Amino acid sequence: MTTVREIPAERPLDLFGKGRGDRATRVLEAIAEARLRWTTVVNRKAPDGRVDDRRIPLIVTERRVEAHDTDVVSVMFTAPDGRALPEWRPGAHLDLELPSGRVRQYSLCGDPADRHAYRIAVRRIPDGGGGSLEVHEALAVGTPVTVKGPRNAFPFVLPGHGSSAARVHFVAGGIGITPILPMVRMAHRLGVEWTMVYVGRSRDTIPFLDEVESFGGRVTVRTDDEHGLPTAADLLRGVGTDTSVYCCGPVVMTQVIADAVRDIAGVELYSERFSAPPVVNGTAFEVELARGGEVIEVPADKTVLEEVLKVRPGLAYSCRQGFCRTCRVRSLSGEIDHRDTVLTADERAAGELLICVSRCGGERLVLDL
Ligand code: FES
Repeated sequence: MTTVREIPAERPLDLFGKGRGDRATRVLEAIAEARLRWTTVVNRKAPDGRVDDRRIPLIVTERRVEAHDTDVVSVMFTAPDGRALPEWRPGAHLDLELPSGRVRQYSLCGDPADRHAYRIAVRRIPDGGGGSLEVHEALAVGTPVTVKGPRNAFPFVLPGHGSSAARVHFVAGGIGITPILPMVRMAHRLGVEWTMVYVGRSRDTIPFLDEVESFGGRVTVRTDDEHGLPTAADLLRGVGTDTSVYCCGPVVMTQVIADAVRDIAGVELYSERFSAPPVVNGTAFEVELARGGEVIEVPADKTVLEEVLKVRPGLAYSCRQGFCRTCRVRSLSGEIDHRDTVLTADERAAGELLICVSRCGGERLVLDL
């Protein structure tokens, strides 16, 4: 499954600590501030300010079934010549170019200390966009692939090193374990006080169960078939005012947690979820595709990407949340309402936008498509 990151669709009014509003706004500020800070670090800006989009050729060196229902596999990549790979930190992801040309983001779930291998894990989604099926069916050992990254839109901020929290609580839902696992490993290795709740439909469906349970009593595994659907209290057991919460899983789970922590003063929330956020404060407008002349209506609750895909189904996209840059397009005219946090000022000045999140501030955008 492609793991995608939760980005506040509507940026809080004051990102820099002035005029702070209610609890919800402060939670969103924490997420946005962390993302902005780390995006600057991990997108590896070139000296001229452009993002370094180097493509790295790798080869599949190992595949393993990671869930008893066989629907999750992990795939290990190394460089063909065995050289060291670019460093990464927990929460980072790769842009993986699949043999078909599809590009998908997958969280790195291996050990950041291993400089010679990247590991991802992917759940088979039969009715998804095809990326997960391709990983399951076409990435045999020995298959060459190309990646970009690693980049980090879900950074792990250690207590005492950018976080005022004293301890960390992790919540993972199913394949949402992938970015969380390296965080757990780092917290454990550094002696950080931490706990974790890992949830899923059944023990057969959740990946890396043995690896997670090897951490012992700090981990609580809850499955729907044995314990019923978890409540916010189940997910946040033990969370107090000194805690930062890292959460990755289905939309409903991340939303339950976001709603619950509004009532706990002092909690820092960092979350990542599996699907695009809903459009907030959208208005309807038109998009003209300059090369073909089509004019498309974009309703107030739809994204440009969703509507363009109806007439250009081969258009490249991946995260659908404005951080992977795959859907970047140049606008030829019209007022852009930028809603991403990754394009540089130069890129924006050149008319570029990410059509999975950004919109039109007027009546019509003309895109170079
Ligand atoms: S699809 Fe990732 S930024 Fe648009």
